[in-house]
Amino acid sequence: MKLTKQITGLYVALTLLIGAVACNSNTNSVQSPDGTISFSVTIKEGKNAVYSVKADKKEILKPSELGFVIAGADTVTKFNLLSVETDSFDETWETVWGESRFVRNNYNEMLLNMQQYNGDLKLNLRVRVFDDGVAFRYEFPTQDVDSLVIMEELTTFNFADNHNAWYLPAADPYYEDHFYKKSIAELDTVRTPLTIEGLNGKYFAIHEAQLVDYPKMDLYGVGTNELKAQLVKWSSGEAAFIATPFVTPWRTMIIADRVGDLITSNLMLNLNEPCAIDDTSWIKPMKYIGIWWEMHLFYTTWYAGPRHGATTKRMKEYIDFAADNGIPGVLAEGWNIGWEGDWPRNQHFDFTKPYPDFNIKEITDYAKSKGIEVIGHHETAAWTTNYENQLDAAYDFYKSYGIDNVKTGYVNILMDGKERHDSQYGVRHYRKVVETAAKHGITIDNHEPVMPTGWQRTYPNLMTQEGIRGQEHDAWDLDGGNPPQFTTVAPFVRGLAGPMDFTFGTFNFDNPNSPHARVQTTIAKQLALYVVIYSPLQMASDLPENYRGNKAFDFIKDVPVDWDTTQVVDAVIGDYVVTARKDRNSDDWYVGAITDENAREYSLKLDFLAPDATYVAQIYADGDDADWVSNPTSFKYEEVQVTSNDTLQLKLATGGGTAIRFAKQ
Ligand code: NOJ
Repeated sequence: MKLTKQITGLYVALTLLIGAVACNSNTNSVQSPDGTISFSVTIKEGKNAVYSVKADKKEILKPSELGFVIAGADTVTKFNLLSVETDSFDETWETVWGESRFVRNNYNEMLLNMQQYNGDLKLNLRVRVFDDGVAFRYEFPTQDVDSLVIMEELTTFNFADNHNAWYLPAADPYYEDHFYKKSIAELDTVRTPLTIEGLNGKYFAIHEAQLVDYPKMDLYGVGTNELKAQLVKWSSGEAAFIATPFVTPWRTMIIADRVGDLITSNLMLNLNEPCAIDDTSWIKPMKYIGIWWEMHLFYTTWYAGPRHGATTKRMKEYIDFAADNGIPGVLAEGWNIGWEGDWPRNQHFDFTKPYPDFNIKEITDYAKSKGIEVIGHHETAAWTTNYENQLDAAYDFYKSYGIDNVKTGYVNILMDGKERHDSQYGVRHYRKVVETAAKHGITIDNHEPVMPTGWQRTYPNLMTQEGIRGQEHDAWDLDGGNPPQFTTVAPFVRGLAGPMDFTFGTFNFDNPNSPHARVQTTIAKQLALYVVIYSPLQMASDLPENYRGNKAFDFIKDVPVDWDTTQVVDAVIGDYVVTARKDRNSDDWYVGAITDENAREYSLKLDFLAPDATYVAQIYADGDDADWVSNPTSFKYEEVQVTSNDTLQLKLATGGGTAIRFAKQ
């Protein structure tokens, strides 16, 4: 069965050859299907080619630059236009898992076939305009030169106003930083997704799609409204080695009227290739627990010894808890030889040698007898050659014990001591891992990734990724952990790049080993995050002993990880988020509402529920005396019968939230 099924198949090919002529002055435009967004490219003889974007007839991007610095070909920014082709496309496809079951992919396309002005290089620009944004990519067609070295990409985004942007600085190699807000003119070098709150009331998000054999694009500011692309380089200084024909990743900009529409946009997924896996029945979204948080709290260790975490006995306890509570997966970290000493220096992690006190056969047999999936772990310490040399053997080893899901990790500043995670080298490695895993029937939860760009459409075995300052920072970070505001920003910035393995679920907020750090939420907010932050693998990260007997755990047991529909009911980035999602496998709806450090009340209209139906709202709310600093565990549970005509009054404590299951009667 294919992931991507064409549900409504309207494919209109309007290929129109406008003319195989070199034009002296020429502006070509393409509009979104609803006519509200337009993308224009102007090519004038001897001048830099530029593009611009309008929405609702207003200028969004002023003339912005295109082109490259290519080794041996100087700066390639001036072109002759050879011909123009246009196309339209409209289909609805079904996701294997995701935030919505069906996705409409509807755009108008323009392809500009160009040749370097006063030069031989052929370079085409393919533009797609959707109702929710624009995308373009460069295409190097087959030509006399069969390999090229890209030194720089010269794409810019020249905004019409000096809007405010929510950004992740470009410093941290793992994208594990705080989010900040500044005007475009004040930005230094930042990551994408870059999320912009327009002075004109619109929202924009710049990112990329289908980054496959190319470096990541960061953006840097120059003190004006213009942002420039900056490709991550190889250690030798080049950006990308390419062989023609070649296409770059898509440069994308979502354009939204409501901030929530950034989250429900499927532009990035639509710009990736359809599913490459024929039978996807083995790919299962699920919740999991595991031997993990206890290491981050420094109770147990990854390495073998008196405090070793991943022992046969401890795994069986986790498996028992998972089986008793309907949690399908159990992760084991620190199960294999290699964790001794300063392990990021260890080039010799062995992915087929368990520690003696981790009896993999006994553990996996036991898990199987209880219907539980063991989730494996490959911490590579970013020694990618060592990992690639073992890839097939490592996956065969796990498969021989029935392990189908693997969490990977790349804790080290550089890959193989040399290259950046988001360089072309790194991107190639991650792609190889995902493709090899797919061949072996293995799913991947990738930590320390390159920023995601929608590969899960093509390879839905790539379930979720880190690339976020996840909850582990709340266990030990010297700055104390993520402040309450953090999760009210994350869905609108990093979240636009795809699922996040954030690993919430804390019920016990004391960590005697790192008293300086804390999960900075209430317990009800921990629950609400399962709805607000999307991932097809969601961890309940706390220890089983902290969940037993706590009513709040019922919400974690019930909440799905795969959705039929998603609606962002309301949000202000950095203040609060209210998200409603309908379960893919039942008629139930779920709501998560979270706030920053400010307590707030919210009137939740239930008009997203099916009309003419009755639901029991199972409400997990902050207790009257809850606050994240002094009373995070105070919560209350109540049930009320509701219909879509009702409104619920939510009271969120400081750093708090509300989680609701609407069980259809
Ligand atoms: C960092 C990962 O994010 C974390 O989840 C993992 O436990 C450690 N590396 C060890 O692999």
